[in-house]
Amino acid sequence: MRTVTSVVVSNIKGGVGKTTTSVYLAAAAVERGHEPVVLVDADRQASSAEWLETRPIEGVTVIEAPSQRTLTRAMGRDDGLVVVDTPPGDERLLQSAAGAADAVVIPTRAGGVEFSPVLATLELIPARTPRGVVICAARLGTNDLEEAIAWWKSQSVSIWGVIPERVGIASGPEARLYREGLNEYAVVLRRALRGKR
Ligand SMILES: Nc1ncnc2c1ncn2[C@@H]1O[C@H](COP(=O)(O)OP(=O)(O)OP(=O)(O)O)[C@@H](O)[C@H]1O
Ligand SMILES: [Mg+2]
Repeated sequence: MRTVTSVVVSNIKGGVGKTTTSVYLAAAAVERGHEPVVLVDADRQASSAEWLETRPIEGVTVIEAPSQRTLTRAMGRDDGLVVVDTPPGDERLLQSAAGAADAVVIPTRAGGVEFSPVLATLELIPARTPRGVVICAARLGTNDLEEAIAWWKSQSVSIWGVIPERVGIASGPEARLYREGLNEYAVVLRRALRGKR
């Protein structure tokens, strides 16, 4: 029986927090007892793979899968939890990753210019696949953030997380994973997997 659960992290826009979100979700999954946890890096820039090479996370295995063919194979595992980090811009790859996903997490930022790439990303996800946005590097208490939250609510798009802007998260592989970030992403993971496990 196929028991793998796959969470795809995507936004056609670059630099929004996909890699950060993917690494933290994988680490949060290990803490939650998922085993095995596989981080599939579908971006040829290989930022997730490099992150884990610099700073391995116990319990997380990385598979680099920068092509359609390698991605399909990597997502076709038969057990465990798979988190897929995707590249910006490649609609075909995103569509096929989303097509195989049990849930899609869409990292974004606060600010009106961020809406349309998310809407375009939502178009690539099959209608019945659970999806939610995660507002990354959020400045708590700002109007921008409040407006973004209100706007997604008005669009009936679920907000699975609001991750505060923190130096400890911005340092990426240069520092160990930031506890507050792990806690916030654990909530995102729980929402993504609601009804699954
Ligand atoms: N919560 C946060 N607080 C502070 N900085 C953050 C946070 N989340 C992400 N960042 C920073 O935002 C930048 C972009 O993040 P990231 O590399 O994860 O985005 P990406 O969508 O994977 O980019 P690309 O499209 O290039 O792959 C990085 O410098 C990262 O450290
Ligand atoms: Mg990235």
